[in-house]
Amino acid sequence: MRVLVVGSGAREHAIVHALRRSPEVSEVFAAPGNPGIAQAADLLPVPVDDVPALAEAAADLRIDLTVVGPELPLALGIGDEFSKRGLRLFGPSSAAAQLESSKVFAKSFCYRHQIATPQAVCAVTEGQVREAAKKFGFPVVLKADGLAAGKGVLIPNNQEELDGALEMFFGRRSFGEAGAKVLVEEFVVGTEVSFMAISDGVKGIPLATSRDYKRIGEGDTGPNTGGMGAHSPAMGLPKGFGRTIMDTVITPVIQGMATEGREYRGVLYAGLMLTEDGPKVLEFNCRFGDPETQAVLLRLEGSFAALIKSAADGQLALGGLSWRREVVACVVAAACGYPGSPRKGDDITGIEEAMALPAVTVYHAGTRFEDGRLVTSGGRVLSVCGRGPDLETALETAYCGLGAIRFAGKTFRRDIGADTSARGE
Ligand code: GLY
Repeated sequence: MRVLVVGSGAREHAIVHALRRSPEVSEVFAAPGNPGIAQAADLLPVPVDDVPALAEAAADLRIDLTVVGPELPLALGIGDEFSKRGLRLFGPSSAAAQLESSKVFAKSFCYRHQIATPQAVCAVTEGQVREAAKKFGFPVVLKADGLAAGKGVLIPNNQEELDGALEMFFGRRSFGEAGAKVLVEEFVVGTEVSFMAISDGVKGIPLATSRDYKRIGEGDTGPNTGGMGAHSPAMGLPKGFGRTIMDTVITPVIQGMATEGREYRGVLYAGLMLTEDGPKVLEFNCRFGDPETQAVLLRLEGSFAALIKSAADGQLALGGLSWRREVVACVVAAACGYPGSPRKGDDITGIEEAMALPAVTVYHAGTRFEDGRLVTSGGRVLSVCGRGPDLETALETAYCGLGAIRFAGKTFRRDIGADTSARGE
């Protein structure tokens, strides 16, 4: 099987890595990829938002299966374009991807299908946001309706922070058109868990659970990022958790989307808050989570390619899929200045040293070659994963790998998984 992976992050590097371990896969291509992916795939210089060029490349190279990493090409209709051309792609249509590309759509979908989610109001003016914020009280969650590269969620704690947030949405228009509508949502307390399932449009199969750490600062402080670390499994979950989420979230979504004429094929990611009143959906993503995927796929046994091909064909089959009992922890090394304006061009060394350590895997994200030197080229630079029989060992291994890697301004959280392990889970 010839496969094409669309994207250039650590998640796509992990996907390429999992496809390489699938016995059916003979050749792997990636567009546009990165220097780490280049070690395992042939790179195509096609940007992720050039949907016609990606379809052209898939047809020319006789690709049997295309896997899409980021949300942007899905929202732009890569699924529709490939389907029109009879090319097999793992990922939803743009109508189905609205679960991620419109927070307002996702919220009203949850209401329509009785899926538990925090209360929210859609606002299009400053006055409406203020009114809704007054109703919910502080802290309050403000979400840009459209795609904002993981940065469109603000959580003002007081009036002054709300004024600053409103200036970003309506004054500076920091989120552009994506922030023209704002979902104002009640703040709910609990433990956040990521739940991913593979759907063939009719039924779903859960992937292993995971947790991610979205804030830049230790102790979950500071602005949201794309994700600073993760571990799989999530641990300490109530008994029957997977079944409950399949029955109350994943299956109702797949069935509800089918009823609404938006058949959902691909990976469905539910960001959940485990509250005192039960799990509530904070968000949906129409793609694999980043960095959760780096941790989850390292635990996968069996053919990843066969699994997603069966879903793309509408005939989901479990095959020999199972999960290693070990824990994987993933720590993200980000560039100086992330998530604001990350600095680029800092020399990176020590990746081979890290990879030589037992149970360490390093995935590239914001890296590129400049005059033969590997340098930083984006916010999240590398994902460093460690495997172990328990969370403590996995974390120790990941941090040991991270310690071997050097670049000026290396930024990371020292407390990934610390809350879970402190609870003795
Ligand atoms: N880790 C969260 C996300 O992928 O959106």
